[in-house]
Amino acid sequence: MKRSVSMLILALIMGVILVADIMVFIALGVGHPVPWVLLALLVLVPVLHNRMESGRFVTWKPEYSVGIDLIDDDHKKLLSLINNLQAAVHYHTGYAFEKKALDELVDYTRFHFEREEALMKEHDYPDYELHCAEHREMIGKVEEFVAGYQTKGHDVFESMAAYLKDWLITHINGTDQEVGAYIRGRTGG
Ligand SMILES: [Fe+2]
Ligand SMILES: [Fe+2]
Repeated sequence: MKRSVSMLILALIMGVILVADIMVFIALGVGHPVPWVLLALLVLVPVLHNRMESGRFVTWKPEYSVGIDLIDDDHKKLLSLINNLQAAVHYHTGYAFEKKALDELVDYTRFHFEREEALMKEHDYPDYELHCAEHREMIGKVEEFVAGYQTKGHDVFESMAAYLKDWLITHINGTDQEVGAYIRGRTGG
């Protein structure tokens, strides 16, 4: 949902609760629990809304670690670039800012993939080809999204940010974890 629409809905809900609360206070008086429950709702609704908003962004968790500092640092950087893209898209900053955030993310992703692939090669990782195919598939999907902007406009960025967030978290927690375990097993790390 677009931020402007979600803010409008929030304002409407708060307005309805506020009016209802005033009326219930007048009708039932301060000794009745219902107006106090409504008052508590009035405080809770924006807090819950803020929580939902912040859920759009990703934060690094220790369980994301693959046990190799260089790769973990890249993944942290990628998550921060995803958040930049998510913010640019969510706040409708316009094509130039959205494209800039996307380019930074894609450039760093390519750089990271090259580094990870070189590391796998160096250690004769047995699933090297399969892993690289996942990387290529992701880059191909992003190129598709970028091409789609010409016909579908801003919504493409929204779908792309969601796709990239899901893909990276899943990839880091699955395929990259396997690489980390393999290399650590070989190097005794
Ligand atoms: Fe990877
Ligand atoms: Fe990775």
